[in-house]
Amino acid sequence: MNKMDFPAARSFALNPEAKPGSPEALAPYQDYGDRTYSTDRYVSREWARREWENMWTRVWTLAGVAKDIPDVGDYFRYDLGPESFIVTRHGAGPNDISAYYNVCHHRGNRLVMSEFGHARSFKCAFHSWEWNLDGTLKNIQDRETFRNAVVDDNPPLSPVRCEVWSGLVFINMDMDAAPLVDFLGEVADHLQPFHFENMHVVKDLETQWPCNWKIGHDAFIEVYHVHAVHPEILTFFNDREVQWDTYANGMSRQLLKFGEVSPKLDDHETLNDGLAYLLSEVEVTPEDFGKRSPNDARRVIQQAKRKWAEKRSIDYSEFTDNQLTDDWNYSFFPNITLNAHPEGLLIQRFRPHRSDPEKMTYDLLVLIRPVADPNYKVPAYMGVEDGTDLSGETRPERMHIEYGAEGLGYVINQDASMMGFVHQGVQSRGYRGARYSDQEQQLRHWHNELERYVRGEK
Ligand code: FES
Ligand SMILES: [Fe+2]
Repeated sequence: MNKMDFPAARSFALNPEAKPGSPEALAPYQDYGDRTYSTDRYVSREWARREWENMWTRVWTLAGVAKDIPDVGDYFRYDLGPESFIVTRHGAGPNDISAYYNVCHHRGNRLVMSEFGHARSFKCAFHSWEWNLDGTLKNIQDRETFRNAVVDDNPPLSPVRCEVWSGLVFINMDMDAAPLVDFLGEVADHLQPFHFENMHVVKDLETQWPCNWKIGHDAFIEVYHVHAVHPEILTFFNDREVQWDTYANGMSRQLLKFGEVSPKLDDHETLNDGLAYLLSEVEVTPEDFGKRSPNDARRVIQQAKRKWAEKRSIDYSEFTDNQLTDDWNYSFFPNITLNAHPEGLLIQRFRPHRSDPEKMTYDLLVLIRPVADPNYKVPAYMGVEDGTDLSGETRPERMHIEYGAEGLGYVINQDASMMGFVHQGVQSRGYRGARYSDQEQQLRHWHNELERYVRGEK
C-alpha cells in the first residue's frame, strides 16, 4: 500500500472477511465532521462543575477489580473527584459486592482511610458510629443522648449502584441509571474471550499529572503521536493502518497491529530487531524465519503463538489469530482505556482532581492471566518487570509515583512528559482549539459525547 493512501471508509479493516456483528467486524463509519474543539473544557471551573453534575454523577466508572476483594469483609476505597466510595464484599456470591459513599452520617467524617482493607463492620474513627457490611446501621454510640427525631431513621450507609462485568467492578451514583451492560453495549461482547475475570493484578500504580484529566485521556485514544513520542516501537507496530470503530454511549476502539513495520519507516525488507524480539517471544529464531519478508512476521507470530500455547496447555481456542498478536485497545467512556491481550490486560484510568481542573490522577493496572508454567514470561508489551510474582498469591501494593519520577515505565513516561506542556499550551491566547485528523476520530466521537452530557442533553 502506498504510504499516503487513506481509505474512503476512514478506517482500515483488520479482517475484511469478518462477519457483521462478530468481534472483528468494522463498525459502520460515522462522519464526525470537521469542526475544532474549544479549550474551555480543560481549564474552566464552570465546565468542570457541569461535567461533575451532568456527567460524572450519572455514568458508570471503573472502581476496581473484584479479585482484590475475595473474602467477605474485604474492601477497597475508590476516590473520584470530590467523592470517595467504599467497595466491599458483603457475601460469598460472585456479585455480592456493594458500594457506599465513604462518609459517616454523624458529622461527615470519612469512614475508611486506607486504600485496601478487611473489616467486620465500618466504624467511624471520630465518635464510633458503626455500620454492617451490608450498609445497615449497627450502632450509634451513646444513642440515648440523641433525640428520637435525629436518629430514628437508623441511617444506612448511602448506597451507590455497583455492578461487576468480567471481574471489573463499576459504580454509578445515579440510582436510576441503565444497567452497566446496557451502558457498555457491544464492546462488552467483543471482549468476552479474554476472560478478565480470571486475571489478577500484578502491577498497580497511581500518579498525579499537572493537567486536566481529559488532556491525559486524549493522548491514549489516538496513535497519531507514536512516530514522534515513541519512535522506537515503529519497527513492530503499524501506527497507520488502524481499525477505528466508534459505538453508542461514547465507546470506541482501535485495533492495533503488532508484528508489522510502520508504513512511516523505509525499510520493509530486512528483519529488524523489534520484529525479531516479538518472534523470539514465541520461540521463532531469525534462522527459523529465514528469508521471508518482514511483512509475514505477524502471521508467523500468530501461528507460532498457537503452538507455543498448546505446548504449555494454555487454551487460546477462543481467540482469533489477530487477537493473538494485536492490541485490542478499547476506550470505555468516560475515563478508562483497556489494552486487551491473550496474556493479560492493561487498564489506564484518568480521574479528575477533587477541586482543581488543572490536576489529574493517572492510574495504571496490569492484570495477568494465570499460567501454571513457572518459567512463563509475559510479553514485553505488558510492561511487567522481571521477577514479578505472576502466581496471583501476592497482590502488589499500589505504588504512588511523583510526576516525572521513575517507575511509570518507559513508554508511558514518554506520554506523561508532554502532558504539563499541553495543558499550558491549550490556554494560550494564540491557540484556536483542537483540529483533529481522521486518525483521531475517536477524539471527535468522545468529545461529542462529553459535550452532550455537559450541555444536559444526555
Ligand atoms: S463523624 Fe462519624 S461518628 Fe461522628
Ligand atoms: Fe503514547
